[in-house]
Amino acid sequence: MPQHTPSRTLAESSMTSMWTFIRAFMRDRQRIGTVAPTSSSAGRHMARLGDVAHSKRVVEFGPGTGAITQQILKELPTDGRLWAYEVHEPFIDHLRATIHDPRLTVLPESAEHIRDLRAAEAPEGFDAIICSIPFSLLPPPVTSGILAAAADSLRPGGKLVALQYHPTYLRPIMREHFREVHGVWHLRNIPPTLLLTGLNPGSPS
Ligand SMILES: C[S@@+](CC[C@H](N)C(=O)[O-])C[C@H]1O[C@@H](n2cnc3c(N)ncnc32)[C@H](O)[C@@H]1O
Repeated sequence: MPQHTPSRTLAESSMTSMWTFIRAFMRDRQRIGTVAPTSSSAGRHMARLGDVAHSKRVVEFGPGTGAITQQILKELPTDGRLWAYEVHEPFIDHLRATIHDPRLTVLPESAEHIRDLRAAEAPEGFDAIICSIPFSLLPPPVTSGILAAAADSLRPGGKLVALQYHPTYLRPIMREHFREVHGVWHLRNIPPTLLLTGLNPGSPS
């Protein structure tokens, strides 16, 4: 079975994640967006909204220290694959040092490049994209560019699940790129968070 944090206790590992996160937030508030990692319960909820348990090719945008990544890997079938786009170097190092799972590939670049990944690894499109990029802090054209690339890269019926703290910002932008958008609040997280699910526009009705 895949091994997570093999040489450390769970408590040590989550303290390290917390410090890595706080340091990252102090350095680049806009791109990191929040001071603490997402709760495991919200990560699990996102993986379930994305139907990861029945997926073979999943992409994560903004894995950070891996809070959601770990939950995706728990749900993902043993023959599934997960590609995770991360731009903050200390998070990339942290992910590589703490998650040892052959299904995971950490990509040290922006999520905007997902179309290239589709061409190389999943010409039929990805089953799900799980995203926690802090869109409400980024310029709107950057958000729109990333969502357009995501919609182009999902298979028909594939889903994008996005975590957002801002209650109203993202839904109208998602509606420009996805056929249906549904929101649900997840309260077991600090702070409570909105989970938005968008269906690929090519999905059958
Ligand atoms: C709110 S944190 C979420 C971290 C982690 N997934 C969690 O939930 O604890 C946002 C993450 O998105 C990453 N990020 C921001 N812009 C990005 C981009 N264009 N492509 C990939 N990752 C990005 C940040 O570096 C950070 O790790």
